Amino acid sequence: MSSMLVDNIGELVTNGAGEGPLGIRRDAAVLVEEGRVVWVGPSAYAPAADRRLDAGGAAVLPGFVDSHAHLVFAGDRAAEFAARMAGEPYTGGGIRTTVGATRAATDDELRATVRRLRGEALRQGTTTMEIKSGYGLTVADEARSLRIAAESSTETTFLGAHVVPAEYADRPDDYVGLVCGPMLAAAAPYAKWVDVFCERGAFDVDHARAILACGQAAGLGVRIHANQLAPGGGVQLGVELDAASVDHCTHLSDADVDALAGTAHSDGSGTRTVATLLPGAEFSTRSPYPDARRLLEAGVTVALATDCNPGSSYTSSMAFCVALAVREMRLTPAEAVWAATAGGARALRRDDIGVLTPGARADLVVLDAPSYLHLAYRPGVPLIRQVMRNGVTP
Ligand code: NIG
Ligand code: FE
Repeated sequence: MSSMLVDNIGELVTNGAGEGPLGIRRDAAVLVEEGRVVWVGPSAYAPAADRRLDAGGAAVLPGFVDSHAHLVFAGDRAAEFAARMAGEPYTGGGIRTTVGATRAATDDELRATVRRLRGEALRQGTTTMEIKSGYGLTVADEARSLRIAAESSTETTFLGAHVVPAEYADRPDDYVGLVCGPMLAAAAPYAKWVDVFCERGAFDVDHARAILACGQAAGLGVRIHANQLAPGGGVQLGVELDAASVDHCTHLSDADVDALAGTAHSDGSGTRTVATLLPGAEFSTRSPYPDARRLLEAGVTVALATDCNPGSSYTSSMAFCVALAVREMRLTPAEAVWAATAGGARALRRDDIGVLTPGARADLVVLDAPSYLHLAYRPGVPLIRQVMRNGVTP
């Protein structure tokens, strides 16, 4: 059994016991064995190990947990982005363009894109990345999207209900039947989660409830794209179905915030549903940012994720999302870093990632900086010096 000591850590973010909400320890070391953290403590008292990784006094934090990404697609929509920056609104209509390109792509082309983006994210410190289907929208194309996604992640999500594809435009009920029937059956062996884009122009609350309930009955956990483009019933539907996460949350009513905070329950029990904010989408669609402070003040658990996709947010950088959340959504740097690590883990209902405490998976990043603060303070700068995933430094 080989062990590795990461030591000479100037500032260690544990998200566990330690100083402040990030559980910070100074002059610390982390002992890793068989892909797990087995000891955390002062560098001066570190146990012996077979190998040593010298952090050189820099900051170390848990690897980012990106709980929302759409990586299985072909083509790009740079022209659509340029049109938006010239004043066109984002409506989600471009999804169908990507569906056409994705259907026309070979398995190997899709696989190459997933691997390229997963590798790009890993180099930027993302040690866990959820991957959705949703650009196939036929039984065969959704099943192969998930099969390919499952080669790169265990956190795979069936999003057959992304939009109603053109060939079903005048019979959405039939498409919902397809999603709940043969498409779910073909997708479920490769999927851990089910998701629906609940929005005008995509799926209404009744259709979303039906699809999520079918997915749940097939053993999948629930997540939902909700309240991105306009207010609506998606957030409350997510809470009603005990979704692990409701994602986007750009347009929230007081009742939505109450539902997320759990104050709507008569027994006073809180909800487990996380609000996952995707500031890359607001950035890239020139939309107003969600009011993250309102959520935190209500006691809601907030996560940050990239939403990496070719339409609304073509970034794989969690550090960029942290910087946006601090600057545009008024999170403190500590709140944003927590949301991008432990928050993402909560959004995936995982307790073995997003923290650096004994028993956790040895997923960590060494920064080229003395403090986590630099992730927001030095936006756009490649600050990830080294990444360890499952105890391995790629
Ligand atoms: O999460 N909103 C729905 N789905 C994606 C966008 C997909 C696209 O525009 O291609 C999102 O933003
Ligand atoms: Fe999305």
